[in-house]
Amino acid sequence: MQIDFKDRRVLVTGGTRGIGRAVVETFVAAGARVAVNGRTGDSTATAIAAMGGGEGLVAAPGDVATAAGCEAIVNAAVAGLGGLDVLVNSAGVGKAGSIEEFDEKAWDETIDVNLKGTFFCIKAALPALRASLGNIVNLASDAGLMGDPHLTVYCASKGGVVNMTRAMALTLAPDIRVNCVCPGYVDTDMVRRDGIEQADNPTAAEQALIDYAPLQRIATPAEIATAIAYLASDDARFVTGAAFQIDGGTTAGH
Ligand SMILES: NC(=O)c1ccc[n+]([C@@H]2O[C@H](COP(=O)([O-])OP(=O)(O)OC[C@H]3O[C@@H](n4cnc5c(N)ncnc54)[C@H](O)[C@@H]3O)[C@@H](O)[C@H]2O)c1
Repeated sequence: MQIDFKDRRVLVTGGTRGIGRAVVETFVAAGARVAVNGRTGDSTATAIAAMGGGEGLVAAPGDVATAAGCEAIVNAAVAGLGGLDVLVNSAGVGKAGSIEEFDEKAWDETIDVNLKGTFFCIKAALPALRASLGNIVNLASDAGLMGDPHLTVYCASKGGVVNMTRAMALTLAPDIRVNCVCPGYVDTDMVRRDGIEQADNPTAAEQALIDYAPLQRIATPAEIATAIAYLASDDARFVTGAAFQIDGGTTAGH
């Protein structure tokens, strides 16, 4: 299968790092022009320069945690690309902690970035996506399909993304397809810098994440990006409302 995105216009939120950055690189390699969103103008410009710059990459900085931020991001992308065919919502935060450790600020940050930001970026992109008969891929998580005792609020946000994806797939059919991916642990800053490296015993912490998946490893960002590219492609023209697990089998027994 050779996925071709020649002349397609794609916006990737959280496209400066991790999975989002792998998504940007995958779409560019397949011929797309891509608007890259980072939280600030500086982080976005730095990431675009590191990816080689050029006409194929457009800056769409802004904070997805507010509706106004989402509108600014989408407006910059649509203006820079001359329209929009695909929206990938990858911006996210993954704070762990017990219920007692979560105060209102931490709750708001997780829900605002992961769930509210996904909703308002989609809302802002609808006119352009209706015009192109485009599609949307959201980053959910295995934590959106099953409980994790250390990730209560993250589970709430990603469970919301999974079911919002299904509801939107119904309300936007037949014009706009809406799907989400549900990765297990992926080797990004969220998992390595903010998780494994903060543990008292990083080696044991990494092994625990490896053992979490029956396939016995942590995924690469490129493996998630490939699945997202498939869902966004014409090959997936009969796929909408899907929650696609890419988790090495973690959710298979749940
Ligand atoms: N890494 C994993 O194991 C894993 C597993 C399942 C799902 N996910 C999801 O995949 C997505 C990407 O995660 P990642 O692992 O690449 O994380 P990451 O921390 O490497 O990157 C997150 C990206 O989101 C951006 N971001 C965060 N808050 C933002 C805001 N308010 N406005 C704009 N951008 C913002 C960051 O700048 C960064 O570019 C997230 O939605 C995450 O929940 C990750």
